[in-house]
Amino acid sequence: HRHVDHATFASIEATIDAGDFHPVIPDYEDFDAYVAGGGYAELKALRANGDWEKVQDDLASAGLRGMGGAGFPSGKKWGFVRANPGPRLMAVNGDEGEPGTFKDRYYLERTPHLVLEGMLIAAWAVKAERIYLYMRDEYPAVLKILATEIAALEAAGIVEPGYIDLRRGAGAYICGEESAMIESIEGKRGIPRLRPPYVAQDGIFGLPTLVHNIETLHWIARITREGHEIKSEVEHNDRKGMRSYSVSGRVAKPGVYLLPAGSTITDVIEAAGGMAEGHAFKAYQPGGPSSGLLPASLHDVPLDFDTLQPHGTFIGSAAVVVLSDKDSARDAALNMLRFFEAESCGQCTPCRVGCEKAVKLMQAETWDAPLLEDLCTVMADASICGLGQAAPNPIRLVMKHFPEEI
Ligand code: NAI
Ligand code: SF4
Repeated sequence: HRHVDHATFASIEATIDAGDFHPVIPDYEDFDAYVAGGGYAELKALRANGDWEKVQDDLASAGLRGMGGAGFPSGKKWGFVRANPGPRLMAVNGDEGEPGTFKDRYYLERTPHLVLEGMLIAAWAVKAERIYLYMRDEYPAVLKILATEIAALEAAGIVEPGYIDLRRGAGAYICGEESAMIESIEGKRGIPRLRPPYVAQDGIFGLPTLVHNIETLHWIARITREGHEIKSEVEHNDRKGMRSYSVSGRVAKPGVYLLPAGSTITDVIEAAGGMAEGHAFKAYQPGGPSSGLLPASLHDVPLDFDTLQPHGTFIGSAAVVVLSDKDSARDAALNMLRFFEAESCGQCTPCRVGCEKAVKLMQAETWDAPLLEDLCTVMADASICGLGQAAPNPIRLVMKHFPEEI
């Protein structure tokens, strides 16, 4: 996106607007099929005489937490947003930009109406006057599916025309940070805001705004339709619930796997058909580049919210990338920092300059570990948003677990 000149960009826009753009649309459950299976009955019942706090209790009983990666209790957000006077808005974060994450795409390309019904239930719960659905532009099939299915919702009278505003991102990773996404929705350059105030209080155009990730909405619909037990009754390694792991790298069958939340990397690799032929397990990225790399020796840690904290990292959006004996942990970490350097919005010095310096220091034959650690401290402590704060993770974890490579 950085290198596309304006003329090229304009011509891409024109092509899409003229309808000449034909992404391959996968088989998915459309409006009629979803309704035939009982879809939107819950939404209609809730709108008629539902109690939003009862749905909020169900989400809490299910243990639903924000599946974008931060894991904030989903129902609690509803209370925060409702505590502020209306008008209120809702934004859906579909800007799935974490390298290795593709679970939101997976759900939208198969069962988009579970996401849309979950979205409308959440919008009902906080009395949102309008919904901005911010979608990653690199998912053209998803954009087509959503445009078609939102039109079907309008035609069926489930939403007023224009109630759901489908917005296209423009390829900037930082626009997945919720306040940068809101800036982008407002038509400005996507740069994160200082928090607090949180968006629940001061969101789009200064109005209280509910923000949920795509997979979170999928679960809201399923919990409302099937009961909290679908999540709460699953237990593994003392953890409750299910998680969608996006698995790639040196495994036999990369893909999205719905597994118990207490799954370890051993379970995840097994679900993905084992290691690819000729590869021996060496390391893994548990949840996107911001989670860094862990060694194969940590093969028995449950990959869930909070469980990776003692190891200096987090599960995030569960973007698992498996590395083998054919890969260099040091090169992988350098690649991650190059990504952060390119995607830093440049607003604050510790991140803008820090990522660039880190890349230079990591290119040296031998790493200057004390200097890199100093840099990591400044970046983690003084950056405005999660990008700069988490960028040191790959550096620190490689220094800790793969000292022989640096
Ligand atoms: P955060 O923990 O600061 O916030 C999470 C959510 O809770 C936000 O919606 C925030 O507004 C809300 N919140 C937190 N405290 C609140 C309070 N006191 N009052 C009201 N609302 C409150 O985390 P953040 O920075 O939003 O997200 C970081 C995560 O994003 C990381 O764990 C990372 O894994 C993930 N991520 C996911 C990507 C993806 O493609 N899915 C891409 C990059 C990062
Ligand atoms: Fe921008 Fe990086 Fe600062 Fe975040 S930490 S606001 S991405 S410069």
